[in-house]
Amino acid sequence: MAENKVSPEIGRAALLAFLKEKSPLGPLKILANHLGYFFQIPLPMFKPYVVFGAQANKKVLVTERDKVLWRNTDPVTDLLGQGVLIVDGDEHDHYRKLMEPALHTSRLPEYTASMISQTDRVSSQWRDGEVVDMLVESRKIALLIIMQTLFSKDVWDDLEKIWKPVLKSIEYISPGAWILWRKIPRFGFRKPLKVLDDYLFQIITDRRRQTEDGLSSTVHRPNDLLQHLIGAGLSDKIIRDQMLTMLIAGHDTSTALLAWTFALLGQHPEIHQQVVNEIDKTNDLERVPLLDNVIKESLRLYPPIHIGNRRIAQEMDFDGNKIPKDERLFYSIYLTHRDENVWENAESFCPERFSNGKKPAGLSYVPFGGGPRVCIGATFGQVEARVVLSYLLKNFTFKFTNHKIHPHMGATLEPRPGVMMKVTRRSRL
Ligand code: HEM
Repeated sequence: MAENKVSPEIGRAALLAFLKEKSPLGPLKILANHLGYFFQIPLPMFKPYVVFGAQANKKVLVTERDKVLWRNTDPVTDLLGQGVLIVDGDEHDHYRKLMEPALHTSRLPEYTASMISQTDRVSSQWRDGEVVDMLVESRKIALLIIMQTLFSKDVWDDLEKIWKPVLKSIEYISPGAWILWRKIPRFGFRKPLKVLDDYLFQIITDRRRQTEDGLSSTVHRPNDLLQHLIGAGLSDKIIRDQMLTMLIAGHDTSTALLAWTFALLGQHPEIHQQVVNEIDKTNDLERVPLLDNVIKESLRLYPPIHIGNRRIAQEMDFDGNKIPKDERLFYSIYLTHRDENVWENAESFCPERFSNGKKPAGLSYVPFGGGPRVCIGATFGQVEARVVLSYLLKNFTFKFTNHKIHPHMGATLEPRPGVMMKVTRRSRL
């Protein structure tokens, strides 16, 4: 059993890493280097346990998953209510089963068409030579895509109205002082969150009306996720919870993935050029092996969901280290992906490590989690990244103009302060 107490020296090193890297990821790496695959973070009033690596992931996600609960008492639960991401047991399985058909691979060809048209819409606004922030542009694209594909809602004209409410909802669930002081007053959220709620409820109301009209006429009813949820007889409140869950889980993650991939390509011009050459040689935006490897490597280095958050329902044992009931447990995707015992040159960007389908065994690579609650949108998210990136790289040149980017721990891991790129349409070069 490893000695996993944080000594004053390790504490000091962790603090220095925090100041240097401007993020808790630095201290996490220090703690993992000194303490191994199991440790406890000694914060005042909050002492979560952290585990990582294939073995621990397997326990949390597969073999002993019944010993942990997803539902916590935190702002994520406050915001998402009974969303599929939050609830446990039969309730979870019921919602998940209702949602899976809308995310089945057989639906992807029609979604791909929408992914391309929404990407085209956003990028057609760019002026030649303009410097754009790919963190912002990626969010616009991902937001339009998720709303169009899952709810058949075109939010183009409403982007201005919902932009701040969406960002506020993400800020609401991002780590903050509430971690240490759960009841800390939080100002500035009530109004924007209400705007977003009203917006979603209106979509539900409109669809119910359309559905009723459709019963007596031939009005077209979309065969989308929203229709599945309505058809299953769920209440407006439960449908709102699922919609908000999918809206946030399904676009904030893709935003981070796209933005990090642009940042990494910007930082590695040779690989960037090789990807462009590969895309130029094909007409099939979905078959670009090097781009696939770049996406996988981007997910390894900067997994948008970098940590899985659980509450212990029944005592767990990790190699003799026990975690009592009711304690908080994090399984760290970030640390799993940077484990030097598994990944050669773990800190370097090396898409080649995934070439020819190579991948380390077991749960050493878990950008989408694992087990029965693996990300429901894993295939959707990967296809989306492939399609959006190949479309943009085929049609535009991107010149990276900022080089100082750090990972910001929000609801997802984001490249901050942004990914500034000078864009030029390729046909006009
Ligand atoms: C690049 C994109 C994405 C990444 C990296 C990602 C990552 C993840 C991870 C790591 C989990 C498991 C979290 C845990 O174990 O605590 C998860 C769950 C989930 N994701 Fe994703 N995700 C992505 C895209 C999407 C998309 C596009 C959707 C919706 C269309 C989505 C919806 C969900 C939902 C609903 C869950 C909860 C599933 C359940 O508990 O049954 N995600 N995602």
